[in-house]
Amino acid sequence: MAGGAGTRLWPVSRDTMPKQFIALLDDGMSTFQATLLRFKGAAFGEPIVVTNHEFRFIVAEQMASLGIAGEIVLEPERRDSAAAGAVGALLAADRSPDSICIVVAADHAIADAEAFVKDCLLAATIAADGPIMTIGIEPDCPSTAYGYIERSADVLGERAHGLARFVEKPVREVAERYVAEGYLWNSGNFIFAIGTILEEMERHCPEVLDAARRSVAKAARDLDFLRLDTQEFAKAPKISIDHALMEKTERAGVLAASFDWSDIGAWDAIHDLKVKDENGNRLEGPVAVLGTTNSFLRSEEMLTAAVGLDGVIVVATQDAVLVAAKSEAGRVKDLVADMKRAG
Ligand code: GDD
Ligand code: MG
Repeated sequence: MAGGAGTRLWPVSRDTMPKQFIALLDDGMSTFQATLLRFKGAAFGEPIVVTNHEFRFIVAEQMASLGIAGEIVLEPERRDSAAAGAVGALLAADRSPDSICIVVAADHAIADAEAFVKDCLLAATIAADGPIMTIGIEPDCPSTAYGYIERSADVLGERAHGLARFVEKPVREVAERYVAEGYLWNSGNFIFAIGTILEEMERHCPEVLDAARRSVAKAARDLDFLRLDTQEFAKAPKISIDHALMEKTERAGVLAASFDWSDIGAWDAIHDLKVKDENGNRLEGPVAVLGTTNSFLRSEEMLTAAVGLDGVIVVATQDAVLVAAKSEAGRVKDLVADMKRAG
């Protein structure tokens, strides 16, 4: 799934070029590319990339530069991740209805690709017998940006349990309680037998599945792309796979991850993931600092300087500059929404 927006990383991440396609981390590639590379191997078929039609060329280019072939499916408009997941599952079913499908997000930082793939394959062996598997992350704070998973007493395998409850992005107080009670974060990757997901979508979000099915049936080839039918796809309710399916299904499980994971949601997470100097600063581009600590400064062109700051994010692009307290970096999303409203 590579068609989301990512406004918390403004001003670098824009509607026309969202975060998953930008090389933000030290590995020099986008998280979309890193995601594809993790699955380049004998165990997996060619990827099906579901994205917005606006990103078709950047997706094609980033895949070609890695030598990765796959189906690129274009959504005429953004309907969130439930429809994208359904389209992926339907196309995978066309290829081989008995296979196990892995729906992955394209905006994650996972340094240990080997451990991640091992976990996916472990989850796949469990998913083959029924449950839709998620991969859970041990939380380190009561974040409200994630889904929370309660494990049931059912043991499904090594590190794997039944899923008792899934709650998408709870409010702060609830998140605090969940962390105390041992819930896991949902990493946003789902592993399932195709038959199971189609049955569960039919039961819990039939309108999403219907719209996906019709838009695939009437899809048109355009160069190397598969364009979903505009009218049919527009009928899909705009809802995430977490709300539409995972909060509702009773046929799910969770594998506790063996790898470190970060959803590079906001600038503070990016700063945390980067190598920093002895003052805890990370400086990128034409930037200079004095008496500044624990800060992230990134500039594309303009010389940018800071004096006497601690815990600050400064990001300068050609046409916009962001200055934010690191601890408040998640609120950039609200700021961008305010600016859009104000025109
Ligand atoms: N094709 C397509 N179309 N992809 C989409 C769309 C869409 O309309 N909307 C989102 N996506 C993609 C994003 O690009 C990303 O790869 C993935 O679906 C997840 O969407 P996000 O919008 O990034 O979701 P989130 O981060 O707020 O929440 C999800 O991930 C968290 C972990 O990072 C949920 O699954 C949470 O439960 C989870 O904790
Ligand atoms: Mg995300």
